[in-house]
Amino acid sequence: MKAATTSHPSTRQEELGQFLTAAPVAGFMASMFGPLPGVVRLLDAGAGAGALTSAFVVRMCGENQGVRAIDATLYEIDPQILDTLAANMRKCERLAKSAGIHFTFTIHSGDFIEEMSARLGGDLFGAPPPEFDAAIANPPYRKISTDSPERHALRSVGMETSNLYTGFIALIQRLLIPGGQLVGITPRSFCNGPYFRPFREDFLEHLELRRLHVFESRKAAFRKDNVLQENVIFHAVKGRIQPDEIIISSSSGEHRDLVTQTVFPFSEIVHPHDAAKFIHIPSAASHAVAKEAMGSLSSNLASLGVTVSTGRVVDFRLKDALRKESEPGTVPLVYPCHFNGGTIHWPKPQARKPNAILDTHETRQWLVPSGVYLLTKRFTSKEEKRRLVACLFDPDQILTEWVGFENHLNYFHTAGHGLDRDLAIGLYAFLNSTMVDQYFRRFSGHTQVNATDLRTLAYPDRKTLQAMGREINVLDHSQEQIDLLVTKHLHVIS
Ligand SMILES: C[S@@+](CC[C@H](N)C(=O)[O-])C[C@H]1O[C@@H](n2cnc3c(N)ncnc32)[C@H](O)[C@@H]1O
Repeated sequence: MKAATTSHPSTRQEELGQFLTAAPVAGFMASMFGPLPGVVRLLDAGAGAGALTSAFVVRMCGENQGVRAIDATLYEIDPQILDTLAANMRKCERLAKSAGIHFTFTIHSGDFIEEMSARLGGDLFGAPPPEFDAAIANPPYRKISTDSPERHALRSVGMETSNLYTGFIALIQRLLIPGGQLVGITPRSFCNGPYFRPFREDFLEHLELRRLHVFESRKAAFRKDNVLQENVIFHAVKGRIQPDEIIISSSSGEHRDLVTQTVFPFSEIVHPHDAAKFIHIPSAASHAVAKEAMGSLSSNLASLGVTVSTGRVVDFRLKDALRKESEPGTVPLVYPCHFNGGTIHWPKPQARKPNAILDTHETRQWLVPSGVYLLTKRFTSKEEKRRLVACLFDPDQILTEWVGFENHLNYFHTAGHGLDRDLAIGLYAFLNSTMVDQYFRRFSGHTQVNATDLRTLAYPDRKTLQAMGREINVLDHSQEQIDLLVTKHLHVIS
């Protein structure tokens, strides 16, 4: 897939926000639609020379699309491009006919924002707004000032936005029928930043985001005002319930590149408690780097002489032996709630979980002798940044002969005993690294981390882990520091 767009250098084109979509990108966008009805009412707002509708028609003429008729509505304000647009639509007509599809089109040479805002705003004497089953868009982008006519028009339909492109998308969204689909390519700027917050709220309230595609190469960006814009392509469906999962895909933006994709829980892309509704798009480049770096690791837990097991204390089976606080005859019982950054914070009298377990002849089989253990959570909440959360049990901080690890965590050990300290801390850094987290996400779509997952992972060799461990003495490193350390020791070039 080659660079997303080509631009005409003149300022007139800049004023129109006219950056035409290159054919391979248009084809890719057309391929992102889900199943469509037999008769498709298609909207192409800001149609330019019609690259997107043409790609859509080409796609529907392919096999097994099940579309019998396409009724395209195109809006384009630039009179100079209208002849080309009409000629391209006639080409579509011929192509569709040869594939047995009935293609009709209407070109509106007016201002999409002005016309649609008026119709959506219920202009008493005007026509009601049209309805569409599908929309494909590369809207114009240009800042619109607070007192511009565009801004007023959009305000009249409840949309406060500072850029033409978000205005276009907000209007297109309103014209889709429930279940109607939108594939759009826009700058990525709407994904964060306070200015786009009303737009994000509007978007996420009415459109279910199914897929996001990013270009890794900056060359594939639009050039606007001499600033490189990063683009995103999205596929969204008109509806109010966001999916559980979303596809994040990427391609380099270079010629004939591969598209890689990963499925993420939606909650990792838009955090459920984020009032600003930022749309986080994980970098596919770092995924690729993670994959490569993980692929070069040759050790596994067996060769490290390390075992990972699930915590042996199943609390509901040992109810009688559990104590809220420690007392004579008990030993510490560690739950995920005791995780506190890199180390264990114990006891936690305020916690709802017990802090201790009786050390008896019966319970001893569920306990482990004190030592340095690396613990990981088996379940992470959707809000947690990383899927893998590792923390150190340090016998110097919690003095005890025996300890109980509860069943909601996994613990790394050496034949039932503690680990070499440097090795444990090296594992701590490795497992908490973004690299491992991203690698992990590639094969695990859920938030649960089982001991089996940790067993199948490739690890750095013992010497490397120990060297990493020696470099960390206090376990309160930031994510950035951990990542720097790990990439340095694994010679990862990102
Ligand atoms: C980014 S270009 C994309 C063109 C085409 N969709 C493509 O992908 O190649 C946006 C187009 O919207 C047109 N445009 C700008 N403002 C418009 C408006 N208010 N109403 C209708 N079209 C507009 C521009 O002339 C330009 O052709």
